[in-house]
Amino acid sequence: MSLTVTPLDHVGVEISGLNLEETISEATQQQLRELWDEHAILVFRDQHITPEQQIEFSRIFGPLEMHPLKATTSEEYPELFVLENGSDKDKFFTAFYNGEEIVGRLDWHMDLHYTARPNRGALLRAVVVAEEDGLTGFGDLAKAYDALDDETKALVEKLEVAYTFSMQRRHMRYVNLDGYEPGPFSPKKPADVAFPDFADAAYPIVVKHPISGRKVLEVVEQFLDRVITPQQFGLSNDESIELLERLVEHGKKAEFTYFHHWKKGDMVLWDNWRAMHCTTGTKPGIKRVINRTTIAGDVTLGRVLKGE
Ligand code: OGA
Ligand code: MN
Repeated sequence: MSLTVTPLDHVGVEISGLNLEETISEATQQQLRELWDEHAILVFRDQHITPEQQIEFSRIFGPLEMHPLKATTSEEYPELFVLENGSDKDKFFTAFYNGEEIVGRLDWHMDLHYTARPNRGALLRAVVVAEEDGLTGFGDLAKAYDALDDETKALVEKLEVAYTFSMQRRHMRYVNLDGYEPGPFSPKKPADVAFPDFADAAYPIVVKHPISGRKVLEVVEQFLDRVITPQQFGLSNDESIELLERLVEHGKKAEFTYFHHWKKGDMVLWDNWRAMHCTTGTKPGIKRVINRTTIAGDVTLGRVLKGE
């Protein structure tokens, strides 16, 4: 199998020449793992495959993990997690943005970040696509780190940030709340959606990627709460808040991000230790189905804050 690698806009690559009807040789598997480590975001097109084939393909990148939201995990395929817009569950994920009703919008995040032990990665495959909206954004935080000026690099090297899990977007300090209103059924506490609560998790602002060794800017807007003890590092609280605002904006710059417009059969695999992602959501009543598989993480990148 001969793979062709084409850069996407700004970050990540598209890979063509992958035929999942054929056995993937050990050499091609190794090439795919290396491409993933090098580029963090891989796009594949026209993969009209079964859930079993998706599960088998995903295993090339590591052991799979069951997602904690068991309720929506497929009974038949425990490794498969079905993300669905346009179902009777929409009302819980509906909110208003400048008066517009939107289902399932998510700010930039890394999955399971709030546990201090994010999964290694995940693969999404489009089963039903929304004609408009429903985009997924990916941001390469290794490239974002590399582009920081030397003074900022020296400053953030010493700092840690804390993430505070919350069900309420209004409680998040670094997301854009202009024109935002929760929906009438938006969950208020984790138990409302049968979710556990989580203690805060802390990360160095600069995390060394366990595989590539690249430095990753570990600052993403969702759940981001504070710099830990900024005064010990010569920063006032106000300065630490301004720093995080600046870093959040930096990571979201167009030059470090790629927005995927889904077509049926598209697959995107991302490195959740390096790339953040977000989703624009869909209009009410619009169907969108994505089959997701999750590659487990065997490294705790952050630490759980207990009594701090
Ligand atoms: C996810 C996720 C985004 C999307 O699967 O973790 O954030 O566009 N998905 O469905
Ligand atoms: Mn996610």
